[in-house]
Amino acid sequence: MKNDLLKIPNHIGFIIDGNGRWAKERGLTRSMGHKAGIANLDTIIKECFFTYGIHSVSIYAFSTENWNRPKKEVDYLIKAFRNYLKGDAFTKKFPGAKLNIMGDYTKFPDDLVKNANKTIEATKNNTKFILNLGINYSGQDELVMAVNNIVKEGVTEINREVIANHLYTAGQEPLDFVVRTSGEHRLSNFMLWQVAYAELYFPKTYWPAFKKKDLYEALKEYQGRDRRFGAIKE
Ligand code: IPE
Ligand code: IPE
Ligand code: MG
Repeated sequence: MKNDLLKIPNHIGFIIDGNGRWAKERGLTRSMGHKAGIANLDTIIKECFFTYGIHSVSIYAFSTENWNRPKKEVDYLIKAFRNYLKGDAFTKKFPGAKLNIMGDYTKFPDDLVKNANKTIEATKNNTKFILNLGINYSGQDELVMAVNNIVKEGVTEINREVIANHLYTAGQEPLDFVVRTSGEHRLSNFMLWQVAYAELYFPKTYWPAFKKKDLYEALKEYQGRDRRFGAIKE
């Protein structure tokens, strides 16, 4: 897809919803929906980084609430994330990108934690792109974590900057644009602080069917938005 857009978000978020319904429509298991959804992540993330030059991509892949799903589905997702974070697969796919995990990923099995730590270490000096991967993530828990750490550090003068610097996204720019697929109009606890002034977009497409052309359409929509940040235009 040619990049003929003038205004590209610096930080884009994806709530990758609709894997289950995509699979159901095709008579497949929910796990097969997740398989297709995770494969599609690569396509879209690469397109964001390498075609559009978007600096930061945040993905909501597993919420703290998703533990309430059947064990079989959760087990499948854990296996898929473990493989996703394996060896040098990440560095090969996304050269120049730093992996930053949002959420307490130590709650996952050891092999996933090991793979995640290795990839975090291997990519820590990359500055060209950032991939924030939300697994076992909750926006409210993130704020609670930030406040607890601020208290522990004995900081008494609290302002926006102090809070922002204690989030998983410390030092990063806020979200400019959030895309939630599958037609649901809610954030489901996604990056509640960082989303403050983001433009929101809710295409009906299920995540596994959200392809390069859909990303282009989304960015075109973003391009047409008038971001006023509370001010007025003369
Ligand atoms: C999103 O797809 C992926 C995760 C939450 C892990 P869903 O699994 O929520 O798909 P639907 O909403 O049931 O279709
Ligand atoms: C939101 O999707 C979380 C992720 C995409 C990981 P859900 O499918 O879990 O959200 P709800 O339950 O419809 O709000
Ligand atoms: Mg869903």
